[in-house]
Amino acid sequence: MIVNKYWWKESVVYQIYPRSFMDSNGDGIGDLQGIISKLDYLKSLGIDVIWLSPVYQSPNDDNGYDISDYQEIMDEFGTMSDWEQLLADVHARGMKLIMDLVPNHTSDEHPWFIESRSSKDSPKRDWYIWRPGKNGKEPNNWESIFSGPAWKYDETTGEYYMHLFSARQPDLNWENPIVRHEIYNVMKWWLAKGIDGFRIDAITHIKKTAGLPDAANPEGKPYVPALEHHLNRPGIHDFLQEMKDEALSKYEAMTVGETPGVSPEDALEYVNEMTGKFNMVFQFELMEIDSGPGGKWDLKLWRLRDLKKVITRWQKGLEGKGWNSLYLENHDQPRSVSRFGDDHKYHKESAKMLATFFMMLQGTPYIYQGQEIGMTNVRFSSIDDYKDVEILNYYREALKEGKAGHDVMESIYSKGRDNARTPMQWDATQNAGFSSGTPWIKVNPNYGQINVQQQLQDPDSILHYYKRLIALRKQNPALIYGTYDLIAEENEKVYAYTRTFENETILVILNFTRETVPFELPDSLSNATAQVMIRNYQTDRSETIHSLILQPYEALVYRLN
Ligand code: NOJ
Repeated sequence: MIVNKYWWKESVVYQIYPRSFMDSNGDGIGDLQGIISKLDYLKSLGIDVIWLSPVYQSPNDDNGYDISDYQEIMDEFGTMSDWEQLLADVHARGMKLIMDLVPNHTSDEHPWFIESRSSKDSPKRDWYIWRPGKNGKEPNNWESIFSGPAWKYDETTGEYYMHLFSARQPDLNWENPIVRHEIYNVMKWWLAKGIDGFRIDAITHIKKTAGLPDAANPEGKPYVPALEHHLNRPGIHDFLQEMKDEALSKYEAMTVGETPGVSPEDALEYVNEMTGKFNMVFQFELMEIDSGPGGKWDLKLWRLRDLKKVITRWQKGLEGKGWNSLYLENHDQPRSVSRFGDDHKYHKESAKMLATFFMMLQGTPYIYQGQEIGMTNVRFSSIDDYKDVEILNYYREALKEGKAGHDVMESIYSKGRDNARTPMQWDATQNAGFSSGTPWIKVNPNYGQINVQQQLQDPDSILHYYKRLIALRKQNPALIYGTYDLIAEENEKVYAYTRTFENETILVILNFTRETVPFELPDSLSNATAQVMIRNYQTDRSETIHSLILQPYEALVYRLN
């Protein structure tokens, strides 16, 4: 078994979505100087690495994931010298910075695409994926991940281009070696500027089935997701190996690939410590436990059994061979306390329980801005208050298909990405202290109760609990390198597991319900003496673990002797 020690295994990452983090100039949009002003706050949390969602030049159809210049900074966020100051200030505090690389597509305003669309003879025509229509329709029946067809007709040349995401995010043609090398050059350029690595966007989509055939369509729908033709396709590892050889391996870069559609078995090919292309991948299986067969908007109640199964498969699947990334939230997902906890009565308890759950697993934890104070989902009554292209496209297409408006809104309330994109709640002043202007998206109305300033003052806050969890990982190698083992697999209410390293065993017990739950440990564990490392209730519990009565959303971490 390999337990090589690396700095990125021992790190805790904090993700910043710059548009919503901190606005320094009152235009209602977060910016680089805003981030710089909060670096001491981030340092005080104890985090090691900042992952910056895209800050490149972009017309913002998809908030920066539509890049029009990979080597310039978005005007709304500041200048390249602001960015250089940010990097220097992050490094000066002993932290690291990773950038978000978007290699699957560009903006339709990228000069490459402008040239590509200008004529069929353009030398850059083949940099994107152009096809003539079929019988007056799109070249195939693929559906965009953001609803509607994955093709857009372009009048200039009378052909269609492919866009797996929004129509303003044309897919690059990765079959073209010149395109691939342009992307590697961009990567090397940023690495040479001194960044510490990349989060790599939508990487599983870069390879498409040759010939771009129609996808199976038994129900005769106008468009189908066609994942079998553009998600983790055979041949993708040739591209990734080349990316590693040409760019990543030349630097000590930390890498995490965003890999929808990848199982733990597939993941080993990505992250095997000897032969993998990245250090880590973001798995999606956990994020799918509350989706029905119709995909993310098809709401389904999640079950603890499925959550345990997914986590255990990933923990055991990569054990000793690769390394997990651990996350419950990011800018694409709803807030975890609203999704897996209770954002009303047990807000504090359940947010802390969830923090314990994911931060005590084996892997590198990624905390998303606002998660550390238990920010919650939001319910805007009007669709006009939503800004996300995915939400707006879904709303339009779903109504077109005849879905009821209130059902569509319920899906958006549960799953919409804007849940994670409301401004960071810094304090109880106007606009949560995020901006002195009008924020680009409304602030969650609960900022008076949930904000950083209030939680800094309360030693029992979610924020202080996160700090303690981060510190605990630093002090206990078993929490980083220890082996994971699930216990009480069949229990429907309690999730319990151990972490074992050398001669040390740590026991984690989590009540995932709003009920009081009795819990018996197997004899092999219950006879040990237990010492509390952290817990989310202030109780005078006697430290016998023979038979426990867990309070709602209680989390307990013990060192066993
Ligand atoms: C995944 C990113 O996280 C998401 O925000 C974006 O919309 C898509 N990839 C397309 O770049």
